[in-house]
Amino acid sequence: MTKAIVVQPGGGFDRVKVEGREARAPGAGEITVRLHACSLNYHDYAVVSGMWGPKEPRIPMADGAGVVTAVGAGVSDLAVGDRVVSAFFPGWEDGAPPFADFATVPGDGVDGYAREIVTTAASAFTHAPKGYSHAEAATLTTAGLTAWRALHDDGGLKAGDTVLVQGTGGVSIFALQFAKMAGATVIATSSSAEKLEKLKALGADHLIDYRKTPNWGEIARGFTGGRGVDHVVEIGGPGTVEQSMIAARIGGHVSLIGILTGLSGEFSMLTALLKQLRLQGVLVGSRRQQRDMIRAIDANGMKPVIDRSFGLEEIVEAFKYQESNRHFGKICLEF
Ligand SMILES: NC(=O)c1ccc[n+]([C@@H]2O[C@H](COP(=O)([O-])OP(=O)(O)OC[C@H]3O[C@@H](n4cnc5c(N)ncnc54)[C@H](OP(=O)(O)O)[C@@H]3O)[C@@H](O)[C@H]2O)c1
Repeated sequence: MTKAIVVQPGGGFDRVKVEGREARAPGAGEITVRLHACSLNYHDYAVVSGMWGPKEPRIPMADGAGVVTAVGAGVSDLAVGDRVVSAFFPGWEDGAPPFADFATVPGDGVDGYAREIVTTAASAFTHAPKGYSHAEAATLTTAGLTAWRALHDDGGLKAGDTVLVQGTGGVSIFALQFAKMAGATVIATSSSAEKLEKLKALGADHLIDYRKTPNWGEIARGFTGGRGVDHVVEIGGPGTVEQSMIAARIGGHVSLIGILTGLSGEFSMLTALLKQLRLQGVLVGSRRQQRDMIRAIDANGMKPVIDRSFGLEEIVEAFKYQESNRHFGKICLEF
């Protein structure tokens, strides 16, 4: 028997149990992975806390990393002993997005990786970066890939561009790191003076306290000599998008990624129209984009920022810590 965390229908922190699961041998096209780490995302929080609780008992967590322990017939790209990291959309290889929901996403529509062993389609995993710990690898599936796709695939990021990132959660810190890796200038915001110092240490060129500076969009523009930023990695949602559009240059790119201030609201059509902004919705990314990101990490040696790790059975404590917003970067489970 191996251990698995199971969230009961509807979710809720008091409805999370540890259960035993039988391991099974992989069939054709499948692999078995001994998982060693997960990383937490707001989406996983929504599933486990009951905000978007599951309809049936569900093993949560989209982001998992571990070692391949068995491969089924026909699997050629992964072998026993390979260190692997999960894919958010196992069924999206490349090209235009084929999904507009979470029905196929591990930890939401199907079982995820808060468990010791999984046997699943080989396409549910890719190789992990060289030299990464399992926890480091597990940070990439959701937050890493979202930031990568937003800046590179959607944004066409170039050296010399200016990127605005908001707050110090997983997506924003990856965006800062990928932007610096590509030779961009980064404007970073936070509500905490201590976290702003940490952003500076990570290479942020300009810093803004978004709580003390409600007109941070205008201030960000000022850092670009009035031209405006090329890319905004927008994680706040309705409460921040207006300032994001003010910060952007004419023809600038605003990645609509996060919903931390709510699911709907108003924004000025006129600003978007007059500035001819590219407002691009983002839902993580494809397996090809994940491989591209990992190739870049292998070449560059960039390491993710992990704030803290918890044990598998401490999953609720981990989510309560995330809820407190004390973290800087990623929170992981290691087991
Ligand atoms: N669309 C996608 O594909 C995708 C993928 C991943 C995540 N997301 C979404 O992106 C958002 C961030 O995810 P995450 O995993 O990075 O979250 P996270 O790690 O929980 O980030 C929380 C941080 O966001 C910052 N924040 C909160 N409210 C803010 C505001 N009004 N303005 C600026 N910053 C604010 C805070 O930073 P400070 O403490 O420094 O102020 C906070 O610590 C979530 O809504 C999540 O659902 C979307």
